[in-house]
Amino acid sequence: MKSDDHIPLLQWYHEMGMDVAVLEEPQNRFLTKTTTSLSIINQPSNKTERFIPKPSMAANHTEHPAYKCKTLEELYQTMKDYTGCSLKETAMNMVFSDGNPKAEVMLVGEAPGADEDRQGKPFVGQSGQLLDKILTTINLDRTKVYISNIIPWRPPGNRPPTTIEIASCQPFIEKHIELVAPKVLILLGGVAAKTLLATTEGIVKLRGSWRTYQPTPTCPLIKTMATFHPAYLLRSPGQKAFVWRDILAVERELKGL
Ligand code: URA
Repeated sequence: MKSDDHIPLLQWYHEMGMDVAVLEEPQNRFLTKTTTSLSIINQPSNKTERFIPKPSMAANHTEHPAYKCKTLEELYQTMKDYTGCSLKETAMNMVFSDGNPKAEVMLVGEAPGADEDRQGKPFVGQSGQLLDKILTTINLDRTKVYISNIIPWRPPGNRPPTTIEIASCQPFIEKHIELVAPKVLILLGGVAAKTLLATTEGIVKLRGSWRTYQPTPTCPLIKTMATFHPAYLLRSPGQKAFVWRDILAVERELKGL
């Protein structure tokens, strides 16, 4: 074997999203996962609920395990035990939330990136740092807001989540919003905005005006502002002025102006 024979394999790993070495020794994850999923199918345990999302789920998904949860602790545990989203198998950690669950403002992003996956917290990487700066401009920080994502497990290589992955995780974020019951909801980026506002319109059209969001039919309506995702602002700093406008609208709303 030549000294650089391994490079194409490493490149392939990287493209598949394996960009971090987690353990000292290599593991045959295919072998482990096959055994695990077969054992789940063959002997359903009373702890693990295998939930397979159906195409009709977006219209009527009250059978999803999220809907049984009455507290954030129950929701956290139900998500930990959930086996209906394969992203969980490649992620290092589940990213549930950060911030103050009693806050008036809740922000929802798309899905964890590499830093979030490593630390198990949303928005701790570069886009999180920009988000913190944006919040500071209206006197908010993580003690005054609550943050979560549409998807709690990192998609490999930061690829966008698929519609099946979104459909299987959507009830979790809906229940999450219902339990936190914020006064104002901020949707960061197109995936969060389109998913929760149930529209195919793009973020350019959706951002900048107040909408209402009702996580479940018995919940009060929540005032909702969609805006650009901080990761997009890092790539296109010229768009920051739009987020500035949106965030000032949020400040006025919080002050009751
Ligand atoms: N991007 C997101 O949408 N969420 C995170 O938690 C981090 C980056």
